[in-house]
Amino acid sequence: MADQAIPQATMPRFVPLIGGILGSTTCGLLLYAWSVFIAPLNKEFGWSRAEIALAFAICCLVFGLVTIPAGRFSDKVGPRKVVLTGGIILAIGFILASYTTSKMWLYISYGVIAGFGGGVVYLPPIATAPKWWPDRRALATGFTVVGLGLGSFIMGPLATWMFAQPNIGWRGVFFYVGIAMGIMCIIAAMCLQVPPAGWKPAGWTPPVTQPGTGAAHGADWTHEESRSTPQFWLLYVSYFCGSFAGLLVIGHIAAHGIDSGLDKMTASYAVSSLAIANAAVRILIGAIADKLGTKKCFLGVFVLQVAAMLLLYPAGSTIFFLAIIAILIGWNYGSMFTLFPATCLQYFGPKAQGSNYGLLFSAWGLAGFAGPYVGGWLKDTSGTYYVPFIVGAVVVAISVIITATLKPPVKKA
Ligand code: 2OP
Repeated sequence: MADQAIPQATMPRFVPLIGGILGSTTCGLLLYAWSVFIAPLNKEFGWSRAEIALAFAICCLVFGLVTIPAGRFSDKVGPRKVVLTGGIILAIGFILASYTTSKMWLYISYGVIAGFGGGVVYLPPIATAPKWWPDRRALATGFTVVGLGLGSFIMGPLATWMFAQPNIGWRGVFFYVGIAMGIMCIIAAMCLQVPPAGWKPAGWTPPVTQPGTGAAHGADWTHEESRSTPQFWLLYVSYFCGSFAGLLVIGHIAAHGIDSGLDKMTASYAVSSLAIANAAVRILIGAIADKLGTKKCFLGVFVLQVAAMLLLYPAGSTIFFLAIIAILIGWNYGSMFTLFPATCLQYFGPKAQGSNYGLLFSAWGLAGFAGPYVGGWLKDTSGTYYVPFIVGAVVVAISVIITATLKPPVKKA
């Protein structure tokens, strides 16, 4: 009888998951496939690796910071308009990058404009899809970030094929992939809509709540309330630390293998192993977290990450060991993008998830700028990758302590 009062769904609930996969794949094409452009840009303009890397660092910083307003807008006007706008900006940035003639042009088109559009596209699906899946929230979150891994798989072979075609080259890759990103974002936007207020999946009964014990038990916090809790900022520090270490490794693992005596091709297997684990974990850890809870998963991955960071240096000269450590690091790094939004949702509820997670995710933007840079600087000043990897392990140890001691916030009556 009670079910008769429940509003009808406006779309099948797998549709927002498709929107999440498509939107996040465009972000993967933007971010994790950047390395395909390094060699052609270096060849055509003679720019150094550091000069080219700055475009990527700017992109990460802008991407990570723009999620703050993107999340707030998504909460206010809904995900569709935000993803549509972001997708158009992302496509324009990529298309403009195809006309690059100077470093400044590249920094603005790829770094600022495409980075801005990407950050705007990234956030709304993460805030929307779990609202359709209150029974499998972490898994639904996993679907909205899995494309970050998929994008790098697609772009590697696609770009290699396109570079080999007459009249395409790196400019054509920017141009045509930019158009494809725009189309994918339009479809993603069509798939995204919040469910009607009060809707719930047929046959699902919300868990029994204990009043006053946090969103995990039924409370729904405003953004202002959420960000005034110590738990929010402890999650922020933990996200920064985990991302810092992960991005430090992603930026340097191939160079570490080569420095340790591997040839370029062999060292690249470590990069692909890391990427495969980084993609696969996003959905798998969601399914696990829905059963075990995010806290146990967090503790597991952060402890493993400390161990992997400590073993990374000695593993460098043997591809078998290096690939195993790379898989561990990719697994731990990728899991954060499912576990952090799921924890944010669990602590503070769905109402302000766009605004809350948008702010929380800016920790990744700061780490994206700092991690690879500090890693390079520590290597240059100490002469060995041993030092940055040990620093990375110490930084992740902070995440272990935070996760082990963190408890859901308690909402005052
Ligand atoms: C992610 O991989 C954008 O790095 C972020 O989901």
